[in-house]
Amino acid sequence: MSKVNQVISLESLYLDGIRNLSTQRLVFGQDTNLIAGPNGSGKSSVLEGVTLLSTGRSFRSPSVRPVIQHGREHCVVQAQIRRGGTTLSIGIRRGRGGELTLKVDGNEVASLAEFAALLPTIVLDPSSIDLVVGPPEGRRRLIDGALFHVEQTFLEVWRRYQRVLRQRNAALRRGIMGAEDPWIGDLARTGSMLSEHRAQLVCRLTPVFREILCVLSDELATTELALRPGWDQAMSLAEGLTKSVDSDRAQGFTHVGPHRADLRLQWGGRPAAEVMSRGQLKLTMIALRLAQGRIMAEDGGGSPVYLVDDIAAELDVAHADKVCGLLQNNESQVLLTAVNSPEAMRLYAGSAMNLFHVEQGCVTPVDRPF
Ligand SMILES: Nc1ncnc2c1ncn2[C@@H]1O[C@H](COP(=O)(O)OP(=O)(O)O)[C@@H](O)[C@H]1O
Ligand SMILES: [Mg+2]
Repeated sequence: MSKVNQVISLESLYLDGIRNLSTQRLVFGQDTNLIAGPNGSGKSSVLEGVTLLSTGRSFRSPSVRPVIQHGREHCVVQAQIRRGGTTLSIGIRRGRGGELTLKVDGNEVASLAEFAALLPTIVLDPSSIDLVVGPPEGRRRLIDGALFHVEQTFLEVWRRYQRVLRQRNAALRRGIMGAEDPWIGDLARTGSMLSEHRAQLVCRLTPVFREILCVLSDELATTELALRPGWDQAMSLAEGLTKSVDSDRAQGFTHVGPHRADLRLQWGGRPAAEVMSRGQLKLTMIALRLAQGRIMAEDGGGSPVYLVDDIAAELDVAHADKVCGLLQNNESQVLLTAVNSPEAMRLYAGSAMNLFHVEQGCVTPVDRPF
């Protein structure tokens, strides 16, 4: 992994057809940008627009349909982004019928993966403790998302594994796998590579996660992270797959392998999901995401843009303050949203930042938050 820390930022953002937002172009500062406004004014929708550019989809909805403005057939988000010394123009257009167009510097690109590599973001959406308490998939995505940005060969290995797994599962499901298992060699080879990448990433992530937790909450600093690769570690993946062939055939799917991996979180020797309070789960989720962002920056994936949705509403002032402190020490660009209540604004008073006010879908730069 190379070690070039390249800061990536949004210079300007054009939004058209996103929820209640009027069609507009915003110019952001390279450091912290606070987007304040009343409930329902459109603050989270601005961040949603950014995640469309970053991943092709919204962080709030798996489908793009609810994001497209009522009465419109499509939405468009464009941005001028700065990556190290260069500036790029990127754009996405998504339609109600699933149409997708991606452009980089005016040229259409076919691959969403290629496009998504350009604008890495980390979303801190403090209500989403699912990352800690939910199914393993979200935690696998966190690891794989970081690897996608820092390890050039990762995507190809991941795709190859998924392809072979799909083919094998289809054959198992339809009961057409003969005495020979033609996939097992490829599955074991690509799966072991995939798992090796993940193990290295978790080694890198663990101390950073702990360090961030120490800042956020002393008592949580003993939280343990452990990667469960998805098969019995007393044997190789090839052996594990061979051992489970009979039950795979009987039940019609592949039981073991990196598609069953999990990043386990334990606190005081027990699963975090069972023993942490809601507030502690939120801090743990935030620490995981911040650690992911820092690893991406340090390992050459580019320092991501942090999208922080309404942190003051979900955390007490002392902890929200610590999260803001960590974000501001990061040298990254931050887009923060907040309701413009005096309590929320007190949190940001005194910090140098670019301010925006949102009212009924219209975002305007202001000198004072309200
Ligand atoms: N597809 C849509 N078209 C038009 N308006 C929408 C759509 N989806 C949601 N809205 C409205 O957009 C507004 C902004 O929502 P949101 O960005 O979540 O506000 P905030 O984060 O400021 O509380 C809400 O009032 C909501 O009713
Ligand atoms: Mg909101």
